[in-house]
Amino acid sequence: MASAKKQVRICVVGMGIGKPNGAALARNPRGTVVALCDLLEDRMKDFAKDLPGKVKFYTDYKEMCKASDIDAVFVGTPNQWHVPIALEAVRNGKHVMVTKPLADSEAAAQKLVTAAEAAGVVNMMSLSTRFGNDCQYLGNLARDDYFGELYYARARSVRRSGIPAWNLGFIQKGGGAFRDMGVHVLDSAWWILGLPKPIAVLGAAGAKFGPRGLGYWRGTKAPKEIYEKYDSDDYAGGFITFEGGVGLQVESFWASHQPDEFQIELFGTEAGATLKPLRLYRTDKKGEFQDIDGKPPKSKHAATWDAIADHFIECILDDVTCKAPLRHGLVVQQMMEGLLRSAETGREVHIEASNDL
Ligand SMILES: NC(=O)c1ccc[n+]([C@@H]2O[C@H](COP(=O)([O-])OP(=O)(O)OC[C@H]3O[C@@H](n4cnc5c(N)ncnc54)[C@H](O)[C@@H]3O)[C@@H](O)[C@H]2O)c1
Repeated sequence: MASAKKQVRICVVGMGIGKPNGAALARNPRGTVVALCDLLEDRMKDFAKDLPGKVKFYTDYKEMCKASDIDAVFVGTPNQWHVPIALEAVRNGKHVMVTKPLADSEAAAQKLVTAAEAAGVVNMMSLSTRFGNDCQYLGNLARDDYFGELYYARARSVRRSGIPAWNLGFIQKGGGAFRDMGVHVLDSAWWILGLPKPIAVLGAAGAKFGPRGLGYWRGTKAPKEIYEKYDSDDYAGGFITFEGGVGLQVESFWASHQPDEFQIELFGTEAGATLKPLRLYRTDKKGEFQDIDGKPPKSKHAATWDAIADHFIECILDDVTCKAPLRHGLVVQQMMEGLLRSAETGREVHIEASNDL
């Protein structure tokens, strides 16, 4: 039954990625950002200027989660804080939306999903690649059987010099290139493939640039006191097998001697596709090759953030089934953590994912 409530009162936590997510939630006529939460008051004051109404500031997320005038929480802190904050929110009966990756470990991701589902709140991932118009187009084509059987995909995010270090969470334990950027292409490729159940993964990963002070965001120089704290991967790649014989090659590099690339390639029995450029490949009845520029229908949303925000709000107010529940984030986390564990031993890791998605 749809909720009788007309408005969702939201707190945005984390004034980095919280800003585009929060602005989109505030643009929805049924969303009101009533509070902001960050350790840094200046960042909250700065963002509050862009919001239409008055907002309350919190520096302590536990106190914020107790507030009875907040219905839903967006979590956009460094990875290591996603689960502690979202857990506190769901335990206080709040709906949650969490930025990618769901967590900094598989155990933390599992704990949050169990608690969110037990609490019966709407729980959703904010996934800016999956919800993007081009990925939606490819996913919808896949569901309409355009590709025939999708049996293989390649997905990669490659940067020449793009290690983020504006918060240490990126480069410390639980951060890293794969959880930061690999997660985008892995999640989207897995979703386009139809959420197949992963079986096993073999991976390689390491840090070849970051600990040397090289490869930071757009070639900027990292101070020694930053890069000596480096404790995560700056590249990771591997191969995941799924039920039904499906294979996915996935790679993520924060820094490399290669050009920048963000790509998903799909291999189907009737057609294939690339994300960038958005192009479809098939053979017509006469045996002629066809390369077709993808033409996604115009989105009704001004930006991907609005598509994400609007879905979160319709799940809360209209009882719409969530298209990107935290459970999806958990399976992606299981694939990522499996790949990183495999890289430590050089051996294949089996993945125990749920059938229930
Ligand atoms: N496309 C996307 O979806 C996308 C893009 C960028 C970042 N992200 C994700 O967003 C997260 C944050 O990255 P960012 O670039 O916004 O970082 P950021 O450093 O710009 O912002 C993080 C904010 O969180 C605050 N914070 C840290 N710990 C906190 C705590 N315990 N309580 C309250 N506030 C706290 C910090 O003060 C900071 O203002 C990461 O998990 C990253 O993966 C997602």
